[in-house]
Amino acid sequence: MSLSSQSIVPASRIAAGSSLLQIRDLHAHYGKSHILQGVSFDVGHGEVISLLGRNGSGRSTTARAIMGLVPPSAGQVLLNGQDLAGARPYAVCRAGIAFVPEEREVFANLSVDENLQMGMQPRHPDAPEWSIEQMFDFFPRLKERRNTRAGNLSGGEQQMLTICRSLLGNPKVILIDEPTEGLAPKIVTVVGEAIQEIHRRGVSVVLVEQKLTIALKISTGVCLLGHGHIVFRGTPDELTANPQLLKDWLAV
Ligand SMILES: Nc1ncnc2c1ncn2[C@@H]1O[C@H](COP(=O)(O)OP(=O)(O)OP(=O)(O)O)[C@@H](O)[C@H]1O
Ligand SMILES: [Mg+2]
Repeated sequence: MSLSSQSIVPASRIAAGSSLLQIRDLHAHYGKSHILQGVSFDVGHGEVISLLGRNGSGRSTTARAIMGLVPPSAGQVLLNGQDLAGARPYAVCRAGIAFVPEEREVFANLSVDENLQMGMQPRHPDAPEWSIEQMFDFFPRLKERRNTRAGNLSGGEQQMLTICRSLLGNPKVILIDEPTEGLAPKIVTVVGEAIQEIHRRGVSVVLVEQKLTIALKISTGVCLLGHGHIVFRGTPDELTANPQLLKDWLAV
């Protein structure tokens, strides 16, 4: 990928591995259903953390609670030490957390270009800055379709568009919910490589990914969600070395 070097955050500005996002004892309800029952995990600068678990285990709810789309009933969402729990989604986004929802949610009646423009935000001093041209370097297919109505794009193209629109907010950390679901294998590879490149350029990533092979390949750390809280935190190697964990918390 031929992205210009201007978007790389100087190493002197980030302490590798230090905590950027700290989720502390996060609780969330839908009505009377107590879905998140004390979720805690850290995302360091330069990390890709995969949030794994069975269907319905609360992975999307965790992402939505971090974003303020589901108001947390207790707990903290600390970004560089600033607690964002309970803040409105736009404020969480402006603070530097971007979200790519499971449902993709493109503006169907706007063109690809217009969708991308909608995502643009002022840059943060300690996060890389992205341009629309860089998005087209990631996904040349989007450039070819820049004047097309987003509602007419394929599922894979819509996924690319949503990732790019979120990235144009110049986030410090991006939450991506099931980016490869329903995509053809070739497009899965393209999206996986783009996530790795986003990470290499200095944006931390929280990834909800059903395909274990992709998650294990691109993550620096994994968290397993079960019974409303994190039941395992470790490296991809530590997880694969423990088949019982996979059986207990991931097997269907
Ligand atoms: N809007 C909602 N209202 C009520 N219950 C909900 C709502 N959204 C999710 N739930 C329930 O909360 C639980 C966690 O859902 P969540 O969407 O976080 O799961 P998930 O791990 O992302 O799984 P998947 O994406 O496979 O559905 C599930 O039992 C689900 O049925
Ligand atoms: Mg989900």
